[in-house]
Amino acid sequence: MSDQNSDPQLTLPRRQYIQLFEPDFLAWPPTKYLKNSDVQQWLYRNLFDTSQNTRLPPESYQMRVLRQLIGKIEKAIEENPTKDKISNKLTECLTHLINHSVPSESEEVREDAYVTFTCLSEKGSSNNSQPDELDPTITLLERRYLVSGSRTTGFRTWEGSLHLGSYLLTEEGSRRVRGKNVLELGAGTGFLTILAAKHLQAKHVTATDGDEGVIQALKENLALNHVDEAHKVRTETLTWGPFSDESWIKADCASHPYDVIIGADITYDKVAISALVLTLQDLFDMRPGLQVIIAGVVRNAETFQMFRDQCAHHRFVVEDIEFEPRPMRQQKALFYAAAMPIKILAISRGSKTMQV
Ligand SMILES: C[S@@+](CC[C@H](N)C(=O)[O-])C[C@H]1O[C@@H](n2cnc3c(N)ncnc32)[C@H](O)[C@@H]1O
Repeated sequence: MSDQNSDPQLTLPRRQYIQLFEPDFLAWPPTKYLKNSDVQQWLYRNLFDTSQNTRLPPESYQMRVLRQLIGKIEKAIEENPTKDKISNKLTECLTHLINHSVPSESEEVREDAYVTFTCLSEKGSSNNSQPDELDPTITLLERRYLVSGSRTTGFRTWEGSLHLGSYLLTEEGSRRVRGKNVLELGAGTGFLTILAAKHLQAKHVTATDGDEGVIQALKENLALNHVDEAHKVRTETLTWGPFSDESWIKADCASHPYDVIIGADITYDKVAISALVLTLQDLFDMRPGLQVIIAGVVRNAETFQMFRDQCAHHRFVVEDIEFEPRPMRQQKALFYAAAMPIKILAISRGSKTMQV
């Protein structure tokens, strides 16, 4: 069984499943493999058995996945149904899910769902021979719909965070965070904050967002991941714009002099961009040597260009970090759509301004 725990033909679909990857695209093992009763047992234990897994995906998602899996196994055993069988555990589990008055998909998207992200560098993930229960992970309680009733976008993890996370998990990327004091802007669910604090050895992380409800949910996600809120991470509400004199941020920066500012998918709103750039300006005034790393899916080229233009207007130096997302079918650990361009920008204060 330990062989199966580190078999990429099983660990890959499990990693996709715990991240609530679209069921139609799960990378199931070949059908001849699915006939094997040990494999079926492994799949039951690791994907559906509530006594072994405390933070499984929502039941309606489990049901859609299990229906597909059973369909595939049925096909696989068609040739020799007397010899090959479907595990009773799997069929009983499907019956249970069907009878358990599973909410409709539209109801389900309104509920909180556990989403577990596997935090391995793409380079290391394919030849990772550890059992998958030892994978470094982050589990978040998310609301899977993009914009909540309160019109806030911060209750689910966006592609920009997953792309920046993939970069930060590389050797080059991790050097930008390891041992550093980090501040995150527009942190949302806290994926990057938790990644930096839990898996990338940041010295301290200050996680901020403009929405108090988002900050409350983020605190719960810190606790879920056993991130020490008392010492390692501070959470604060911060709405972009110039800092007020009494702002907590000056004291925080004095206690944990910021080295790096990170932010993902925070450049999508034309109205907020000027305020965001003013925040960066004030941060550079406090710490001229800061490195700012902003990632964003370019949904609207004009809006993204507006962010670059405003940075140029403030004489910030903006460089593109060359890091392309892998096509989704080749991703092994963090899974996210790569159809639209995703940029990572490294922003610093130009030397001219630094002398001022
Ligand atoms: C698209 S979400 C991205 C969240 C997270 N960074 C991610 O990539 O998953 C944008 C986040 O920025 C926050 N935000 C939007 N406008 C803001 C503002 N003016 N000041 C501070 N935070 C803001 C939202 O509350 C939300 O959490």
